[in-house]
Amino acid sequence: MTVANEKTSKPVVLTCAQPTGKLHLGNYLGAVVNWGRMQGDYECFFGVVDQHAITIPYTPADLRRNIYTCLAQYVACGLDPARSHLFAQSHVIGHTELAWVLGCICPLGQLERMTQFKDKSRKQESVCAGLLYYPVLMAADILLYNANVVPVGEDQKQHLELARDLAEKFNRTYSPTFNVPDPFIGKTGARIMSLQNPESKMSKSDPNQNGTIYLMDTPEVIRKKITTAITDSGSEIRSSDDKPGIANLLTILSAVTGTPVPSLEQEYSGQGYGAFKNAVADAVIATLDPVRLRYEELIKDTAYLDQIFKAGADAAQKIAYRTLSKVYRKIGFVERLR
Ligand code: TRP
Repeated sequence: MTVANEKTSKPVVLTCAQPTGKLHLGNYLGAVVNWGRMQGDYECFFGVVDQHAITIPYTPADLRRNIYTCLAQYVACGLDPARSHLFAQSHVIGHTELAWVLGCICPLGQLERMTQFKDKSRKQESVCAGLLYYPVLMAADILLYNANVVPVGEDQKQHLELARDLAEKFNRTYSPTFNVPDPFIGKTGARIMSLQNPESKMSKSDPNQNGTIYLMDTPEVIRKKITTAITDSGSEIRSSDDKPGIANLLTILSAVTGTPVPSLEQEYSGQGYGAFKNAVADAVIATLDPVRLRYEELIKDTAYLDQIFKAGADAAQKIAYRTLSKVYRKIGFVERLR
């Protein structure tokens, strides 16, 4: 069931990220670039979910720094504060309020069965109630803005399923209120693997950090990581299952240049791995260097970042209040005099 968004004729896209620090090439090509491309066709909400970040042990000073890092990286990657709403979750009243309401129609068992809850619980000595409630808060993030599409990675699909269930259950129990949001699966081909172990995804927690290219790596570091990437002992530039290293480099080159892999295979056929890797390095540096330089400017200007957060929260808050008062009315709360 689709409930039209009242405010705008454009469909609403919302996605959020935890402020966990540095983004890598996999995050960039697999996610953030795609979000950026949606600006214009969608009304976009991009949230920095600080309230989710406190569900596992953390250090306040690191969190504060990472919230700014997260915003500055997104802006540097092309999420445009003039076209999108970039906000911090804790700045908008309504996320936790709606989460409470949704939690009261959410079966406890469904939360206990969440794979990410089980994974994260296993890794900790003591588990807080917030960690169990995490997916309900995520559902609230989405439903508060009546999002139509939610770009998420594989690991968040189960959480999005819960958001859909809760939207349907609320609509059934009270009356049609929420859109049932669809996942947005990004273009294929943007699955970037580790340069040192092309069988597994590029990751921040990879023990071999030479396999991970960060957006903030300098050109020298990027070139070193790419030219020392693991490849097979052959010499053909071809994307196939028995050549995962070369296939990954082709995927990367294709993603940063926009040239399809088959054309690249032709272009580089007969050239050695050395020349090919240098071409990949050139192309990745050409893409990431402007991002890094923009980031370095932005991160120094906390006042500007605060302004972006304020504008984002102001816009988000209007919609959040509207949703929240509608919800409160439907569930039987009494309206507060203004
Ligand atoms: N749980 C998501 C993650 O860790 C972050 C998130 C929170 C989110 N709220 C969201 C993603 C709403 C999409 C929509 O990646």
